[in-house]
Order: sequence, then C-alpha cells, then structure tokens
Amino acid sequence: MNTTHENWGSRLGFILATAGSAIGLGNIWKFPYIAGENGGAAFIIIYLGIVFTIGLSVMLAEIAIGRSAQTDAINAFRKIGKPGWTFVGVLAVITAVIILSFYSVVAGWCIAYIVKSAGGTFSGMDAEAIGGSFGAFIGSPVAPIVYHGIFAAVTITIVIGGVSGGIEKTSKFLMPLFFVILVALVARSVTLPGAEKGLEFFLAPDFSKISAHTVMAALGQAFFSLSLGMAILLTFGSYVDRQTNIGKSVVQIAFLDTLVAILAGLAILPAVFAFGMDPAAGPGLTFVTLPTVFNSMPGGYFFAIIFFVLLTIAALTSSISILEPVVAFFTNMGLSRKTATIGSGVVIFLLGIPSSLSVGIWSDIHFIKGQGFLDSASWLTDKLMLPVGGMLICIFTGWVIAPIAIREVSGDGEPGVLTKAWMFILRYVAPIAILLILLSGLEILKF
Ligand code: PFF
Repeated sequence: MNTTHENWGSRLGFILATAGSAIGLGNIWKFPYIAGENGGAAFIIIYLGIVFTIGLSVMLAEIAIGRSAQTDAINAFRKIGKPGWTFVGVLAVITAVIILSFYSVVAGWCIAYIVKSAGGTFSGMDAEAIGGSFGAFIGSPVAPIVYHGIFAAVTITIVIGGVSGGIEKTSKFLMPLFFVILVALVARSVTLPGAEKGLEFFLAPDFSKISAHTVMAALGQAFFSLSLGMAILLTFGSYVDRQTNIGKSVVQIAFLDTLVAILAGLAILPAVFAFGMDPAAGPGLTFVTLPTVFNSMPGGYFFAIIFFVLLTIAALTSSISILEPVVAFFTNMGLSRKTATIGSGVVIFLLGIPSSLSVGIWSDIHFIKGQGFLDSASWLTDKLMLPVGGMLICIFTGWVIAPIAIREVSGDGEPGVLTKAWMFILRYVAPIAILLILLSGLEILKF
C-alpha cells in the first residue's frame, strides 16, 4: 500500500490546481449561452445560489473524504467507511476515464484551431465555409486523432511530474496566463460597436424565464463546472495538509470558477452579437461562430489565436486533474508513477479514438438514444454516472461518516452553525436536488 503519499507545495498551489480543474470548456462554451437563454442575470443569481450552497457542500464533502482518508478515491471509501462503499470510488474513477477520453478529443480540436488560426486558414471565409471546414476536419480519420494524441501526451507528461512538481507547477504558470488572456478578450469584445446587444442578452434580468427547468439547468451546470463526482476533488483533497482550512479554500475555488464563467460570457457574447451571429452553445459556437466573428473583427487574427490558446489551457488544467485520480489508484496498487500514468494515459487515448471517429467515418454507428460514440459517452457520464456518484458521495458523507467529516472541517472544536448547515445540505437538500437532476436528465421527470 501507499506509504509515500504526496502533498501540495503550498495552499496557493492547491487552490490554483483545483480552480484549474474546475475552469474548463464547460465555463467557456456552455455557461454564457445557458445563462443568456435562461433569463440572464436572473439565471446568474440562481446559479450563484446553487454554487454557494449545494455546490460548495458537495465539493467540501469530496475534499474532506480525501484529506481524511489520505489515499486515492477507490481506497478512501474502504479506509474511512465500510468496504461496501468502495464501488462509489470505482464508479467515480471509471467516470473520470470516460470523460477524459472524449474531452481530450475536443481539446485536440482546440490545439488544431490554434494552428489553423495562426496559419490564416479561415481568412476571407464566410460562416458557411468555416462550418464546412470544421465538419471536414473533425470528420477526417487521421488529423483529429493526431491532435488528440498530442493533447494526451502533454497531459501524461505533466502528470508524470507528480502532484507538486507536475500538476501544481503547471497550474501556477498557466492559470495566471489564462486570466491575462481572458481579460484581454473581454476588453476587445465589450468595446466593439454593437456589443450592448450581447451584454443585454447575457445580463439583462428576465425573471419570467425562471422555472423548474432553469433551476435544473443551473444545478447541472454547477455540478459539471465544479468538477464534482469525478474523483478529482477527493484525490486532490488527499494531498492537502492538516493545517489548510478546506472550508475557506472551497469558497475561493468556487469564486474563481464562477468569475471565469461570467468573464467568458463577457468575452464571447458581446462579440457574437456585435456581428449579428447566433450564440448557440457548444462546438458550433467555438469552432464555427467565433472564427467567423474573428474574421470580421479588428485584430481578429491575433484574438483568434489567443482564444484557442485560452481554450487549450482550460482543457489542459482540467485534463491533468482528471488523469490524476486514475494514476493515484494505480500507484497505490504498487505501480511506479511513470508506468501508471503512461499506462492509463494510453488506454484513455485509445478509448478516445472511437469518439473521434464517431463524428466522421463511424457516424452511422449508434449507441445510446440514437447517438454516436462521443455523444453517448458524454450522455452516459453527464446524465447518469456523475449524478449517481455525486448523490452517493453526499449520502456517504452525511450519513455514514458524519462524525469523521465534521471533525475534518471543524477540527477538534465544536461544530459551528456553518458545519451544521453543511451537514443538513448533504443529508437532505443535495441528495434530493441531485435525484431531480438525475430524473430530469433521464427524462423520467420533465421540468
Ligand atoms: N469543470 C470542468 C469543465 O467545466 O470543463 C469539468 C471537467 C471536464 C473536468 C473534463 C475535467 C475534465 F477532464
């Protein structure tokens, strides 16, 4: 068993690495659009409410389990709970493997778009031509897999470097750079003529759009955005020393994640509206709409390149965080870090290949609900595995190991009112809320 458990070099390193995990493609290509569609500032208020109650509670639960157990996600449940709970860790680690396999494919597209933007591929093209070029690129059998391989190789190289020497060091360098780029993009976007329309779409509060459906959308987005249920926070928590106040840390991490989501909205939507484009979320927004917008924008050549660098950084600091739980488990099984990282990294790379082909030559092969491999893998993790894992983590912390968890956040002192509120959320509020996300995701309940 593991005897040389690693630690973060500093609290700042832990915060930046965890914020780097939380800040990912979800913040950039999903949040701005979901917020705009669901009532702007009214949605943002609800989202904030959810992040700082349920979101923080689940985050704190995962970190508390990890720090208390001082081991990987799979062994943690056995070590501090009862052996019957080990499957929750297994579920979370399998979820991590699946998510990383397709996330790395999409991250590969981001790298390809740095290269394409720098090479001037899109200059002079209209939206239709850019859309055609995107479809042809992701549908081709070789190039996207090569970029997926490059991204996977970079992820593997960083994770081999270890917790403080690899993940922490990289995050301390990349996260400040990320913020500088994001602020530059916001400054460009909000000063374009016609930017107000985008600001209005994103920020003007429309309380009439708030419904149960909106609340569900906010819950699902908060859950994904904070990287909950993926074994990441649990593993990262195990590297936190006893002196660190984890309650304060989770507030700071959630704050940074939400700040980036809002800044991403300010960077993207004003520019999209200034050029009269449609802000629909996801790959279309990122790889078709935005390159079209950059084409017409003063300085667009430069801003296109730094935008795709921004996306790649966001994806990379998330991907290293999600490979780590897998590696932590295998090193605890006795493998060296290098062997564990390369071995799991290569498996993840191979698993990503059918995802890549599923948007091209394998597009006729369907799995779940008539979807191809990539969409099925995304559906399975997003709609089923993450909510189930998250709910079990709440139940485990709130009901099975409550005394250990309470000691973990309040030290030896009496639990204060916040700790009691935390337990109440974990025991009752969060499991019910997550159950609703699950039922609505599976379309058993319609909101
Ligand atoms: N919080 C991340 C995001 O918003 O993109 C979620 C995530 C996805 C984390 C994929 C890690 C990962 F590999």
